[in-house]
Amino acid sequence: MSDRPLIYVLNGPNLNLLGTREPDIYGHDTLDDIAGQLEDRARDLGVEVDVRQSNHEGHLVDWLHEASSRGAKAVLLNAGAYTHTSIAILDAIKSIKVPVIEVHLSNPHTREGFRHKSYVGMGAKATVAGFGPMSYTVALDAAAKL
Ligand code: DQA
Repeated sequence: MSDRPLIYVLNGPNLNLLGTREPDIYGHDTLDDIAGQLEDRARDLGVEVDVRQSNHEGHLVDWLHEASSRGAKAVLLNAGAYTHTSIAILDAIKSIKVPVIEVHLSNPHTREGFRHKSYVGMGAKATVAGFGPMSYTVALDAAAKL
């Protein structure tokens, strides 16, 4: 492990299918493509990223705790649909001191009503949404400067 500040990039359900999943909404980049873009940007910014994905809510909770115990500088969190449902993830965000930045490829506020509520957003320091894969790099730029 390097001594560069560590930034976790956590991705929730169905984001493993990016590239083929509803490309009209989420674009054609895969999660590996996005991870590559983040690693390139992280190098320029002098930080390290740890990019993960899980379809399981509890993994996201465990990884938020782990980000704290490993002394991460920030977490970028795209919790997918758990954004709109998960009190457990909100509680995990509130349980740690590490700033969490909520990230979305799409802009949930321009979509169905059930996407307008964000439990993640209630605990997050900030939200970046609607820029496609660039949402992640914009969030990383900001996180590196915190
Ligand atoms: C998403 C938006 C969510 O509403 C949706 O459930 C996702 C992806 C986004 O990145 O735009 O899975 O988080």
